[in-house]
Amino acid sequence: MAFLVRSSGAVVKDRETMEEILGTCGVSLELWPVQSTDRTAALLSRDSPGTEEVEEILSEQDRYFQKLREAHGYQTRDLVVVYPELPGLSAMLDRFRPIHYHEDDEVRYVVDGEGVFGFVLPDGDQVELLVEKGDFIRVPRLLEHWFRLTETRRIKAIRYFTGTAGWVPVYTGTPSLFSGETARTA
Ligand SMILES: [Fe+2]
Repeated sequence: MAFLVRSSGAVVKDRETMEEILGTCGVSLELWPVQSTDRTAALLSRDSPGTEEVEEILSEQDRYFQKLREAHGYQTRDLVVVYPELPGLSAMLDRFRPIHYHEDDEVRYVVDGEGVFGFVLPDGDQVELLVEKGDFIRVPRLLEHWFRLTETRRIKAIRYFTGTAGWVPVYTGTPSLFSGETARTA
């Protein structure tokens, strides 16, 4: 289950309270069961599924894509696959760790593994949210946030896009109130 950590170190595990806090900065968090057959479950557990296998994983979850397409106009989806030995992993993580925003929503559905999103709340406080398999999250455009992995360094997440233009990090230079790996140990 996802949980949230305040900059004070207080941990919030109650889903309703989490959604309320996240709602103050426009983030939506939903729990969507990951659809899988024995075969796709096996594919999901692989470090690095091939192109056709990735398509199988994506297709399995396309009922959600269809819903998003109809409700919000998302046009494309792909699968981000991260594992400890992924070439270029450190550089990739370095891009998303500093506080930044995007010109478009950041929409992720975690289908395997886990990761941590951080958000700057309207009052200037910050929270970290651990997301794992089954968590669907939408980070609204222009909201200051960051992303990091947990010590497992393993996540697979479907990304949904309305377009590819504008989806780059814009760094704001806001200092993080989180010094270490708080959410990991909560
Ligand atoms: Fe981002």
